[in-house]
Formats: sequence, C-alpha cells, structure tokens
Amino acid sequence: MPSILITGASRGFGRELLDVYASSQWTLFPLVRDPQVAEQLANQYAPRCFPIVGDVSCDSIGNVITDVLTKQNASLDVLINNAGHIVKNRGILGVSTRDLIEHFDVHVAGVWRCTVAALPFLKKATKPVVVNITSRFGSIGRIARRKSDFVYGYNIAKAAQNMLTACMARDLGRDGIKVIAVHPGQLKTSAAALDADTDPHVAAEKLDDFISHLDSSTECRMYDLMKGEYIEW
Ligand SMILES: NC(=O)c1ccc[n+]([C@@H]2O[C@H](COP(=O)([O-])OP(=O)(O)OC[C@H]3O[C@@H](n4cnc5c(N)ncnc54)[C@H](OP(=O)(O)O)[C@@H]3O)[C@@H](O)[C@H]2O)c1
Repeated sequence: MPSILITGASRGFGRELLDVYASSQWTLFPLVRDPQVAEQLANQYAPRCFPIVGDVSCDSIGNVITDVLTKQNASLDVLINNAGHIVKNRGILGVSTRDLIEHFDVHVAGVWRCTVAALPFLKKATKPVVVNITSRFGSIGRIARRKSDFVYGYNIAKAAQNMLTACMARDLGRDGIKVIAVHPGQLKTSAAALDADTDPHVAAEKLDDFISHLDSSTECRMYDLMKGEYIEW
C-alpha cells in the first residue's frame, strides 16, 4: 500500500486530505499536535494509521518523524507539508517581530524540518512527491500589484516557503523526488479568507487527483489547485 505523511492533519484541509487518502486505502502518517486527536485518528483509521505527535516549529519534530516511520519500516510516497498558522493583523504596524518569527517557524523552518526527516523514507519510494501547501498571498508578483491589505507575517512566510520549494525541487529532484507548491484555493476552514468559497473536502479530492497525475514533465511551479493553472511565484 502507498503511504502518505500529512502535517496539520487535525482539522481543516489536512483533515480532509487524510479522509480522502484513507478512503483509497493508503497507509497514513498524520502529524498532529494533540495526543488525544492522534489517538482518535489511530482508532478511526485503524489499522493503517500511525499518528506523529508534535509541533513542526520545534526541532524535536525531526526525531519524532524518524521514530514513527522507522518503526513502521515506511517507504513514503507522498509528504504534504500543510500545517499552517495565520495571525491576520494587517499593515506594517500590525505585525510584531514575534509574529514574523512564528510564521516563519511554521511555514518555512517547519517545512524544512519535516522534509529533512522524511527524506530517507521518501528515497525508498518509486515516485516520491513532496507538496508544499502555499498561498496566493505568497506570490510576490500578485502582492506587488495589490494596493493594501497586507498580512506581513503570513505573506512573507509563504513567499519564503516558495523559495524553499524551488530550492528543494532542484536539490531533491536529483534523487527522483518531485517537489511542488500548491495553492489549495479559498477554503472554508478556520483560516478562511473573506472570499472563501471552496469546500476543503472537494479541494482534497482535487489534490489527490493532481498528485496522481504528476509525471517527470511536471515542472516545479506554484499551482492553483481550484483554477487548474500555474500562478506566478
Ligand atoms: N484556508 C485557505 O483558504 C487557505 C488558502 C491558501 C493556503 N492555505 C494553507 O493551507 C494549509 C491548511 O490551512 P487550513 O485552512 O486547513 O487551516 P486550519 O484549518 O487553521 O488548520 C491548520 C492546521 O495546521 C496545524 N498546525 C498549525 N500550527 C502547527 C504547528 N506549529 N505544528 C503542527 N501543526 C500545526 C493545526 O493544528 P492544531 O489543530 O493543533 O491547531 C491544523 O491542523 C495552511 O498551510 C494554509 O496556510 C489555506
């Protein structure tokens, strides 16, 4: 059975992704912060669900991922770096140093920590894929055309995550690992934007389909999942 690690799988988009991959009989490695949620998921999706409990903004997450994947002798087909944090304070005076660092820690360092830990297991798979869940608000091209309404911490962190994705795509590509950035659409989750219009379950099904059609010709770019087109970095 193929296997998948999804970060931020307790709720929102990550939770829907878990549901979609569970219904296709994948082996699941949901990363969640709350041990009680982990237990619920393990029971709900038994016998193929092995939760990883930890916070992507802590360096210790690497060892936790390694322990769980090693115990299951996993070869990892897909890693979805989905865990997300947003504080919607707007404008340059609305952001604090702490906000900036916390966003960076989850969206950039968190993605890096989880990917580094997952690497040996991804290398064991035949066609491994890493999907970094980004946002249209991380597109420098788009933001440069906007007049107002800047959420500094989130926008900057997602733009930096995009750079990480571009670097990883080249680097890990040499080992046959495909890396891509996906904007999932305007999802109706707790992190929803004002124009949220998409059921996260529908988006999760679409992402499953998109990943299953990736091939060697797919370039590392930023993909708008619901529009079905690439968007500028
Ligand atoms: N919603 C949208 O319209 C939209 C649009 C573009 C991009 N995105 C991106 O899509 C991803 C999922 O967003 P969502 O809408 O599903 O948000 P959400 O409903 O707020 O869920 C966020 C998830 O991330 C987890 N998380 C947050 N900080 C974490 C940390 N430090 N370590 C581990 N897990 C952590 C949360 O876990 P807890 O339950 O423990 O808090 C939760 O499972 C995010 O990367 C977001 O930036 C969302």
